[in-house]
Formats: sequence, structure tokens, C-alpha cells
Amino acid sequence: MRTIAIPLPDARRSVIHIAPGLIDRLGEFIRGSGTSGSIALVYDCKLEALARQATASIEATGTSPSVIPLPSGEANKTVATLAALWEALAEAELDRECTVVALGGGVTGDVAGFAAATYLRGVRLIQAPTTLLAQVDASVGGKTAIDLIAGKNLVGAFHQPEGVLIDIDSLSTLPPDQLRSGMAEVVKYGVIADPELLGWLERHLDQVLGRDPSALEHVIARSCEIKADVVGSDERESGRRAILNYGHTIGHAIETVAGYGHYTHGAAVSIGMTAAGELSRELLGFPKSSHERMVELLLRIGLPIRLEAPLPVEPLLSAMRKDKKARAGRVRFVLARTLGEMEVRPIEEPMIQEALRAIGAASP
Ligand code: GLY
Repeated sequence: MRTIAIPLPDARRSVIHIAPGLIDRLGEFIRGSGTSGSIALVYDCKLEALARQATASIEATGTSPSVIPLPSGEANKTVATLAALWEALAEAELDRECTVVALGGGVTGDVAGFAAATYLRGVRLIQAPTTLLAQVDASVGGKTAIDLIAGKNLVGAFHQPEGVLIDIDSLSTLPPDQLRSGMAEVVKYGVIADPELLGWLERHLDQVLGRDPSALEHVIARSCEIKADVVGSDERESGRRAILNYGHTIGHAIETVAGYGHYTHGAAVSIGMTAAGELSRELLGFPKSSHERMVELLLRIGLPIRLEAPLPVEPLLSAMRKDKKARAGRVRFVLARTLGEMEVRPIEEPMIQEALRAIGAASP
């Protein structure tokens, strides 16, 4: 088992465990984290069998959890889903000593995490992510959120999970487009922090896509190490943490304008990273060879680097103006000077429009 700790201010810690078979040890980990309170198992309703396995593991420690299904998919990451979950937690009479366990992908983790951040003004949280995307990004670092019609993740809270249990076995049945989606974030870590990870992916991509357990463990552990380092240095995103949003300014806008769920998150981020790479070349002299390495990897993974059908430029820009990095109405982008050397800077709209047209967006 690989264990990575995120050191946080005020002597807090969030610990990530990575290994096969961890769902069967969920109960042991919850009790091992020093709580005897009640447990709410909040799970993606498509994961009935896994939820039964998790329930059995908790029951083996002598507690019956309250088991609460959540609807699947980004289109359900809404205030309505959150409100229903708050009511279900209250209905189950869970008190302040309780632990919320989020079992599922990024949507489940974000909604259950936000409920844990706010129910009774905050209760304990354990993340048990089941998709590669959630394992390498969403479940780690304490961001929780819901979407608005106006944009992705626009309402949320920082709430660190005490533990993140990453069971690699859950990837064996993950749909291929979801595996590809998670891989976009892995490529992102290579670009923002670790050129060696890009080299490793270039050599071992076939094993990763073939779901070789040790290759998967390597990419998950390296991604979590990078994220832990960034979050440990800037938990609340007052500076450095913004680099984790490379490719996400345009990516989130694509998801919002195309309709939540139309593009996987990773597909949208892949297109966004391609556009941000071009902007980095123009503005910061990001080397052509580095950009080409990134694009080549994205294509080998099977991710898009252009829109599959044109989206209009103006709604994309409007979604970007609502991005959390925007200041005084100016859209700010995470750009690369070299692999691993990032900068956040505002970009004028004509240049963004040009970048959007280059990825296939349509002018009016
Ligand atoms: N997914 C970006 C972050 O956690 O900061």
C-alpha cells in the first residue's frame, strides 16, 4: 500500500492510501481514524454492488451505516441533489460526530463533500473515489462544489477529507472514456510539475491503458504526490494551487456551454490544455517540442484536442468571465513557460477568441 500525507495548517492532515482491495478495509480505516460516531455511506446509485461491499466492511466493525444513494452524472451536481442529501442526513438523525463517506466519482465526492462541509456546520469526511479522475484529482485536496447553470463548481467549500481510500480494483470495470478522462489530469500533472512523468507515460502508456495494476498505481501515486505537494503549500488557492487549473479555464467553459455531461471532464480539459499550450507558446515562449509532446500523449490516450462540433465563441467567453480565477472582469489563464514552470496571467479577449477559433469554436 502507498500512503501519502498532505500536511495542512493548524496541525491538520489528510492521508491518501492507494492499493487494491481497499473497499473491503473501509470500516477498519474509518475506525482506525479515531472516531466511534455514526457513518453515512453516500454512493453513486450506479454502484450498488460496490456499496454493498462497503456496507459489509463497515458492518464488520459493529456499526450499521446509513446508506444514501445519489443520482449519477455531472448534470446532477446541483443544489437539488445537495438539498436532498442534507435532508437524508437529517432524516437519519446523524449528529456532529458522524462521518460522511463518499463512494463514487467526482460528482459524488463533490456533492457528498459539500454536504459534509455544511451539514451541522461541518462533519468528518472520508473520500473513497472509484474513477481515475476522482482518484488523481477530485477526491484529493479538499475542494467540494456543486454546479450552477451559469458555470461549473461555482458554489462550494474547502473541506479536507481525513482520509482518501483509493482502491485500484475499482478501475477494472471503469468505462474506457472515463479512464481516458482521468488520464487528461495525469498529463496535466506532467506538464505543470513533472516532465519525468511525461517521459514515463510516453514509455508505459500501453500498460496504463491496458489497466496493468502496477502501472495504474504508479500514475495515481505520482499524481497524488504532486497534488499533495501543491495543496500542502497553498490549501486555499491564494497562489500556487491555481496551477492545478491548467487547461480548465477553457475546459470548464466547454463543459458549461456544451451542456454538462456532453464532454467528459478530461476531454474538455484536453482541448483546454491544447489551447492553453498554444497561448503559452505565443505569450511565454513555451517550447514547440514540449507542446507537441503533450498533444501527442493526449492523442495517444484517445482524447480530443479540438471541439467535435463548433460551439459559439461568445457563450464560451461569457462562461470564462465567471471562472473563479477571473479578476475585475478579466479572464486569467494558467500558462506554461517550460514544462514544470507555470504562470497565471490575464489575457485580452481578442487573443482568447483566436485561441477558441483554433480549437474549432465558431464566431457569430
Ligand atoms: N482540481 C483543482 C484543485 O483541486 O485545486
